[in-house]
Amino acid sequence: MKYPPVHYHNYLDIEKLLNAQHPKSVEYQKPAHDELLFIIVHQTYELWFKQILFELDSVLKTFQQPQIEEEQMGRASARLERIVSILKLIIGQVDVLETMTPLDFLDFRDMLYPASGFQSFQWRLIETKLGLRVEDRLAYNQSPFYKSLMEDQQKEMNEVLNQQSLFDAVEKWLERTPFLQGENFNFWDTYKQAVNQMFQDDINTVNVNTRLNEEEKAKNVKGLQESLKTFDALFDEKAFNELRAQGHFRLSYKGLHAALLIQLYRDQPILQTPFRIIRALLDIDETMTTWRYRHALMAYRMLGQKIGTGGSSGHKYLADATSKHKIFTDFFNLTTFFIPRSKVPTLPKSISDRMSFHY
Ligand code: HEM
Repeated sequence: MKYPPVHYHNYLDIEKLLNAQHPKSVEYQKPAHDELLFIIVHQTYELWFKQILFELDSVLKTFQQPQIEEEQMGRASARLERIVSILKLIIGQVDVLETMTPLDFLDFRDMLYPASGFQSFQWRLIETKLGLRVEDRLAYNQSPFYKSLMEDQQKEMNEVLNQQSLFDAVEKWLERTPFLQGENFNFWDTYKQAVNQMFQDDINTVNVNTRLNEEEKAKNVKGLQESLKTFDALFDEKAFNELRAQGHFRLSYKGLHAALLIQLYRDQPILQTPFRIIRALLDIDETMTTWRYRHALMAYRMLGQKIGTGGSSGHKYLADATSKHKIFTDFFNLTTFFIPRSKVPTLPKSISDRMSFHY
């Protein structure tokens, strides 16, 4: 089939794109040179957010199915990795905006009240679709975050909040992971012994460390014993659920076991794609945290202790959100319980055979 010719300018709607910058300082006849940069940087962010949402929606669709084909899993993991690449790119854009000095910013900042990145609908969609819940967020102006959005956006946000997030869908997928139980598969008992030994070795190392005084030793040992207690609960469903209710874990008992199994046996061919998916989710959480941190520092150097245009405490709110607004924390915490490969129990042959491809 022959398609009609297309011109670059029309195909990319360049006219519309280049006419979408309307500096307030020009409107008020006090032109501020840096306002164009401020607008363009924000607009490029929103364009990248659109692409992230496009990828995220397709991954969500895959994970929301009751059963996922291997081929779809490969595609989903590639799309998650694309999201990571975009996030890394947009962190770099902070450098460009930071060529604007705080004084340049003050030339037009007062004209923007009460607009704020806090009202970015697409950013809120990304966070929510990934799995950041209302209760995970910092309180802001005594009302839920979505109250800052436009009315029709609030409606859509409410629907999204009631849909299955990527976190929930991944949890269900993990819970369906086979190989968790098998004939004569007492993997968890053997594993538990190895981890207990590792913690005991650490406690012994602390106790013989001559550079620590008795108080420091006791503090370090207490910390290790507490970690060990969390680890013990990993294999006692009732104790686990109590800790989960207190917020120590978000993933379910089964989901967490599957994630651990995937991480430990990621060299098994069948677990390589699941491993890549978990790694991409860790990368997404980490790059989003890095972006939040860079953005908080940028706000600090631009504003000092001033409040934000959206009415928050400014830098302080952003710094607190950086440490609190995380989603896949369980995957990070699991690493505490990793042991060297040489000590990981060997899988029973019946199970390792089922995990391998044979040519
Ligand atoms: C001069 C540069 C910037 C400054 C001083 C700044 C400052 C702030 C402040 C103080 C807040 C907290 C809410 C408020 O009180 O307004 C905020 C939130 C936010 N800003 Fe910026 N910002 C800047 C650039 C950007 C850029 C380029 C983006 C890209 C889209 C962005 C996106 C956001 C988002 C998404 C939030 C909500 C964060 C959250 O609640 O976790 N900001 N910004």
